[in-house]
Amino acid sequence: MAIQKTFGIIKPDAVRKKVAGNIISKIEDSGLSVVAIKKLHLTKAQAQAFYAVHKEKGFYNELVDFMISGPVFVMVLEGNEAITAWRTLMGATNPSNAADGTLRKLFASSVQENAVHGSDAPETAAQEIKFFFADTDIISA
Ligand code: CMP
Repeated sequence: MAIQKTFGIIKPDAVRKKVAGNIISKIEDSGLSVVAIKKLHLTKAQAQAFYAVHKEKGFYNELVDFMISGPVFVMVLEGNEAITAWRTLMGATNPSNAADGTLRKLFASSVQENAVHGSDAPETAAQEIKFFFADTDIISA
């Protein structure tokens, strides 16, 4: 078991529904620590750059519009095997495939408005953390 850091977003749909506190509570109950967090309203340029990997996909423009539709919380999470642990807690991208008890099963409305984002690998976690946070913003528990 290795201690890792990963990156997460509480997306505009979840912030609008006022379930951000509930999501943070479930993160802490799972054993992960929130070691950095801030509330942001993404600019179009930030959302386009963050999701650049999806720019050829049919849903890209809609995804960018959704991600700038309201504020988000961006977070760095830390704990044992944090990348997998956070993805397991989030559940499948499409909430209709998400397991019971997962954040997307509980809080997502659709494949797009799916409440949370999480990095999928160590390289993307490092890139996504750097996209929003300086090393000095991260206070390991
Ligand atoms: P996320 O984990 O943030 O990674 C890419 C995002 O694109 C995903 O969550 C969804 O919000 C969105 N997404 C993925 N697949 C689709 C789809 N088929 N239609 C619309 N949005 C999608």
